[in-house]
Amino acid sequence: MQTDFRFPRLHIVDHPLVQHKLSLMRDKNTSTRDFRELLKEIAMLMGFELTRDFPIDYEEIETPLTSFKAPFMKGKKCVIVPVLRAGLGMTDGLLLLMPSARVGHIGLYRDENKMPVEYLVRLPELEDRTFILVDPMLATGNSAAHAVDVLKKRGVPGDHIRFMALVAAPEGVGVFQELHPDVDLYVAALDDHLDENAYIVPGLGDAGDRIFGTK
Ligand code: URA
Repeated sequence: MQTDFRFPRLHIVDHPLVQHKLSLMRDKNTSTRDFRELLKEIAMLMGFELTRDFPIDYEEIETPLTSFKAPFMKGKKCVIVPVLRAGLGMTDGLLLLMPSARVGHIGLYRDENKMPVEYLVRLPELEDRTFILVDPMLATGNSAAHAVDVLKKRGVPGDHIRFMALVAAPEGVGVFQELHPDVDLYVAALDDHLDENAYIVPGLGDAGDRIFGTK
């Protein structure tokens, strides 16, 4: 995992499989079907890194040969929270890793000033769970920061929240970490900059449109 000296809580998942699949996704000629599949695969691979330090507990089990204190994931099932709509594209990949996870939803759209407007929030009981927010593109950082606000206002502490994006812009990561210095951020790539329309460059275009085949 790579880090960036400017952003202490940023983790860049630089695994070759992730990087290879991301390059395929960036290509404008990649089909909707392949784009969706690649995003799911990357989400699963990134989820592997994001959960690496999840706590383990030991429980006695009987194998066919002996009794044995076996490691199991400790605590309540975690919650995957896609930010609608593009976050949905990463949810299935994480559910492959954690089929019993709960799934919440946060619906945001960007107004004409690129600021997030909330239109839906559905979350399970907190119960000391870890929340994994997912949204493929962290551009201005405003929506990502707002989604964390939604969780914190409902009582989820920052150290129980992780944010997973596919591609981030440095401007957005700066905003996010300024507002939420207690939240870890996982990305597959930290790109160069935002353009005048708040698109990430080089980026991959509009993730929602590419996942759902809309324009
Ligand atoms: N949202 C996207 O889907 N793409 C970008 O480049 C920026 C925000």
